[in-house]
Amino acid sequence: MPSPAPSTLARNRAAALLAWYDRHARRLPWRIGPEARKAGNRPEPYRVWLSEIMLQQTTVAAVGPYFQRFVERWPAVADLAAAETDHVMQEWAGLGYYSRARNLKRCAEIVATEYQGRFPQTAAALTELPGIGAYTAAAIASIAFDEAAAVVDGNVERVVTRLERIATPLPKAKAEVRAVVAEMTPTERPGCFAQAMMDLGATICTPKRPACAICPLTEDCNARIEGDQGLYPVKAPKKEKPTRTGTAYVAVRSDGALLLRRRAEKGLLGGMAEVPNEGWSTKDGSGEADGPPLRADWGKLSAPVRHTFTHFHLVLDVYRARVGRDIAAPADAWWSPTDRLDGEALPTVMRKVIAAALKTD
Ligand code: ADE
Repeated sequence: MPSPAPSTLARNRAAALLAWYDRHARRLPWRIGPEARKAGNRPEPYRVWLSEIMLQQTTVAAVGPYFQRFVERWPAVADLAAAETDHVMQEWAGLGYYSRARNLKRCAEIVATEYQGRFPQTAAALTELPGIGAYTAAAIASIAFDEAAAVVDGNVERVVTRLERIATPLPKAKAEVRAVVAEMTPTERPGCFAQAMMDLGATICTPKRPACAICPLTEDCNARIEGDQGLYPVKAPKKEKPTRTGTAYVAVRSDGALLLRRRAEKGLLGGMAEVPNEGWSTKDGSGEADGPPLRADWGKLSAPVRHTFTHFHLVLDVYRARVGRDIAAPADAWWSPTDRLDGEALPTVMRKVIAAALKTD
């Protein structure tokens, strides 16, 4: 659908922001600077894609070392496609959500085999690939291929709800925000514009005490004019999280090895390692009442382990047993020696359970 011509205000804002970006763009390892971009260079799509997937997870500062290690080890998408999945998982460890790493690998394989190593160049085509949602597709299409896509992340939402004093709470305000960004996004240098918006949100239009005095959009910022920047973005009140309960079993072999198994690929913490446990992974705890994984003298820890996920609190009763060297692991499990534990894909909740069980030794 052709979009209507942008208003003078939208064009002026875009121009002011781009002029600011030319002077203040953050130098990030996956970027090329505004001068290089203006000279006709483009960032490598592989690096843009990789950084965007990593940035879904955590901050620019935290992503830096991961990004460097990945591109040194796998300099092109075909290298990543040919890598051992386990090696990719190991490099990803610490970035969280292993399903993202698995999607990353699958996406690399598809690009390498079905697209001859060249990423598709439009947001619409990019969303067809694993791990690439609407935001990431727009970001890659805009930064790597200069498609005038509206790129809206949390930083951009903050900038725009302040510019326009959008009183609708997020996430309901997303459509309004997107419309404002779509109108502001220029057909010239849309990739620089998208990154400029992100940088403005990260460095000037910060959640607390925004630096309005040095903001390139200060003249036209309605919240700044009214002096109520702190009110935006308005957020819908958070729902109370429910509490789930369950049981975990830590079997400790006489040489210190722990009994682990792997979670189902699909669903919460998909594919990650865990000590045997039950009762909490689904909303109603159904289909999960296996009891202890081995016959042993199980003792219950005096205090449960607590952990909070995005959508619920978890309270886990933990049982522990010591068993002899000759006890075989059940078919779906393995004994993990003490010195391998760091390398296992154990989510934080499981590390807490293990720490609690070993502390009482
Ligand atoms: N956050 C997500 N993508 C980003 C990018 N390309 N630059 C800076 N911050 C980001």
